[in-house]
Amino acid sequence: MDPRLNPYAPGAGTPPPELAGRDDLIERAAIALDRIRAGRSARSVILYGLRGVGKTVLLNRIRLDAEARGIASVKIEAPEERSLPGLLAPALRATLLRLNRGEAARASAQRALRALAGFAKALKVKYQDIELGLELDPEEGVADSGDLDNDLVELLSAVGAAAADRDTAVVLFIDELQYVPEDQLASLITALHNANQDQLPVTMVAAGLPQLLGHTGRAKSYAERLFEFSPVDRLDDAAARAALIVPAAKEGVEYEPTAVDEILDQTRGYPYFLQEWGKHSWNVADMSPIERSDTQRATVDALAELDASFFRVRFDRLTPAEKRYMRAMAELGAGPHRSGDIADVLGRRVTTVAPVRNALIAKGMIFSPAHGDTAFTVPLFDGFMKRIMPDIDHL
Ligand SMILES: Nc1ncnc2c1ncn2[C@@H]1O[C@H](COP(=O)(O)OP(=O)(O)OP(=O)(O)O)[C@@H](O)[C@H]1O
Ligand SMILES: [Mg+2]
Repeated sequence: MDPRLNPYAPGAGTPPPELAGRDDLIERAAIALDRIRAGRSARSVILYGLRGVGKTVLLNRIRLDAEARGIASVKIEAPEERSLPGLLAPALRATLLRLNRGEAARASAQRALRALAGFAKALKVKYQDIELGLELDPEEGVADSGDLDNDLVELLSAVGAAAADRDTAVVLFIDELQYVPEDQLASLITALHNANQDQLPVTMVAAGLPQLLGHTGRAKSYAERLFEFSPVDRLDDAAARAALIVPAAKEGVEYEPTAVDEILDQTRGYPYFLQEWGKHSWNVADMSPIERSDTQRATVDALAELDASFFRVRFDRLTPAEKRYMRAMAELGAGPHRSGDIADVLGRRVTTVAPVRNALIAKGMIFSPAHGDTAFTVPLFDGFMKRIMPDIDHL
């Protein structure tokens, strides 16, 4: 059918044509943010899940909804190898400048901007990637000690006061939070905890890979009392069907039920894959309804495209030893797997391969769902590893 009318939206953070199965999560986050704005106690949310389950899309949706209700947002994506202060400073500045508009709350917003100036100046020595245009001079003695723990507490407290003055909340929306180094994450949680105790309307909504759970827990043991950790998983049967059927129906196109079954089998309800299969099914079908034979052809096309892009770019970032480790995991199936079993496939000892496993965790390729277990962060990666490295005997 006409690719120009294809409604599906495979991509990273691309809003889907039908955001299926996430109403509960969106509503829970909205309630928490509204309560925090009102100075009431609430745990904000941290969304965690595998690659492509729709965390970024959800985070953006929660943010846009919050902005529409008058909440001030600070949008941050944490790439690898950047410092938290380096990311936070310019994003926070933009938000504070917005709070500084109009008459009502100028003093408190300006005080927060000055705290930010001191923060950036003092920490630039340690975090050289801080770049900040400054319109106000720092206020001496506020957030300028050069110690991140201390300065972030003072900074967020000034930000919270500015937000309260404006009857709003400032919410840090941080994507890929697992890439924030643990010591910096610990400082951030301390600062948010402090603001929470003072009932200041400043909080964080974050998203990241499942290793975030261990990461935040190690950074601060009370993190789970401050945040609600919400798993973002594959879609259940009804939601997965809706994700496929609703967008097509809006274009007057239907699916035969067995065609939908085929896609659900192949994608196992993972949102990104549903978009890919929907897109290819639409493109190969001649007309409505989309039939099972269409979706079977789509499987071939979708896998070829994923192998050449989505899976491939991740594979290309791996060293030969890391590739062997991932291939050995794939041999055991989708997972999770015992680390000992993976080492057995490799014919090595667990302790010998531990550095490779740690490097893969740092790269966000695998995670440990429970002690001694290892799982892929990318769904369906086991199948890809087998296709790209068919020969297990020569690892
Ligand atoms: N609830 C949903 N229903 C249907 N499609 C969805 C849903 N959520 C996300 N998608 C689609 O899935 C794809 C991946 O979404 P997104 O980039 O938000 O995932 P992610 O979890 O942030 O992935 P990553 O870990 O790689 O950053 C997008 O193409 C998006 O349109
Ligand atoms: Mg994402």
